[in-house]
Amino acid sequence: MPNHLIQKYNIPGPRYTSYPTVPYWDASSITPVSWKDSVVRTFEESNSSEGISLYIHLPFCESLCTFCGCHKRITKRHSVESPYIEAVLNEWKSYRNLIDETPRIKELHLGGGTPTFFSPDHLKMLIDGIMEHSQTAEGYEFSFEAHPNNTTREHLKALYESGFKRCSFGVQDYDPLVQKTINRIQSFEQVRQVTDWAREIGYTSISHDLIFGLPHQTLENVIDTIHKTNQIAPDRLAFYSYAHVPWIKGTGQRGFSEKDLPENETKRALYETGKELFSDFGYEEIGMDHFALKSDSLYQSLLSKKLHRNFMGYTASKTELMLGLGMSAISDSWYAFAQNEKSVPEYEARANSGELPIFRGHLLTDEDRIIRQHILNIMCHFETNWNEPDSQFPELEACLLKLAEMETDGLVEIEKNKLVVPEHARPFVRNICMAFDLRLMRDAPDARVFSMTI
Ligand SMILES: C[S@@+](CC[C@H](N)C(=O)[O-])C[C@H]1O[C@@H](n2cnc3c(N)ncnc32)[C@H](O)[C@@H]1O
Ligand code: SF4
Repeated sequence: MPNHLIQKYNIPGPRYTSYPTVPYWDASSITPVSWKDSVVRTFEESNSSEGISLYIHLPFCESLCTFCGCHKRITKRHSVESPYIEAVLNEWKSYRNLIDETPRIKELHLGGGTPTFFSPDHLKMLIDGIMEHSQTAEGYEFSFEAHPNNTTREHLKALYESGFKRCSFGVQDYDPLVQKTINRIQSFEQVRQVTDWAREIGYTSISHDLIFGLPHQTLENVIDTIHKTNQIAPDRLAFYSYAHVPWIKGTGQRGFSEKDLPENETKRALYETGKELFSDFGYEEIGMDHFALKSDSLYQSLLSKKLHRNFMGYTASKTELMLGLGMSAISDSWYAFAQNEKSVPEYEARANSGELPIFRGHLLTDEDRIIRQHILNIMCHFETNWNEPDSQFPELEACLLKLAEMETDGLVEIEKNKLVVPEHARPFVRNICMAFDLRLMRDAPDARVFSMTI
């Protein structure tokens, strides 16, 4: 991609794990009652067919990685585990009371923070508590995120016995200077060891998270990290663009300055080189920043057009109800979004009192749902069309005007009411979605809200 296009399009923009994006939620559009109604409605529409998804946020980590943009709480006190699990199970009970039927769980994901901060026994207690009044849907997938430094064989075994077959390990980069700068020292041997354990136990899909654009990271570092990764050959890879968002409260991004970050063309070169290497090593590109071996379910769902994207990232199947449990977790009922309290004490107090611990949300308008579908089509399949009346909206002309400029720049191909993102333009997918983002178009943020798109 020519440098002038990278300069032109590298602007702040959303990652579109939802539409509308969180800063554009209209809190006044939703009440606790309308949120509950939307959950019940989608549950009734979908539980007997595909089932529902559960995301459980386990926020604790023992030490702070200074690049991290996740919702986490740093502590070495493991006494936080039991009360937190109790609160999550109470929140689940409130949802079950609302639904008043046995939920069928298609996807369950433990994210964080670091789920393996919790002891194997506590994780088992959590999953047993969730499954006590639930059943698994056909083809269910249980997965979790793990830090290689604190994942033991016992963690992997306990979760496998509870139905988990997929896990992702945070790796980021193997270079000692990069690791020191981000306060995250972890060896290749450690990552190989936990991956080997997981395979021996029977996990069928193992993923590694890598990041490009970290402080002090060079092209040589990325090449070396990917060669090392290839020796372990995980089934999936996330290759995230480093999101520099130090202005967001609680991220704790520090210990380096912006001049230590590779930017624009340098950062793009890291991605392009990584992508070429992944392809050489047999990985297929899945949506934005994900790669998978052809044998992995994510690639199979891309082929069968079942690939979906939500707050968990890319998922192999589309469930219309995704309940997020735990501090800061976001739920999606297809008609509405809701986010839980972001402080652990407030979350626990409200969950334990029997109310849903949500503090903000958004009820989608008809227009939101149409735009959301276009954005999902582009993020998952790199194409969308507006042939049918239910894919059209009044401001389509204004969007097409924006897209015309991108067409001239070679980022999209438009013909007969259909837009296709050519392979070379995939790094610009966030910019292309922005052309459909009517809420952003109507009200551009005046402060820094989003990370850079490239
Ligand atoms: C919750 S963490 C993974 C589990 C575990 N806590 C660990 O660090 O190994 C999820 C992933 O988000 C990614 N991530 C976190 N902060 C990021 C940032 N600022 N930019 C891009 N990716 C980020 C990292 O790749 C990380 O592995
Ligand atoms: S990268 Fe993982 S371990 Fe590090 S602070 Fe973030 S969530 Fe915790």
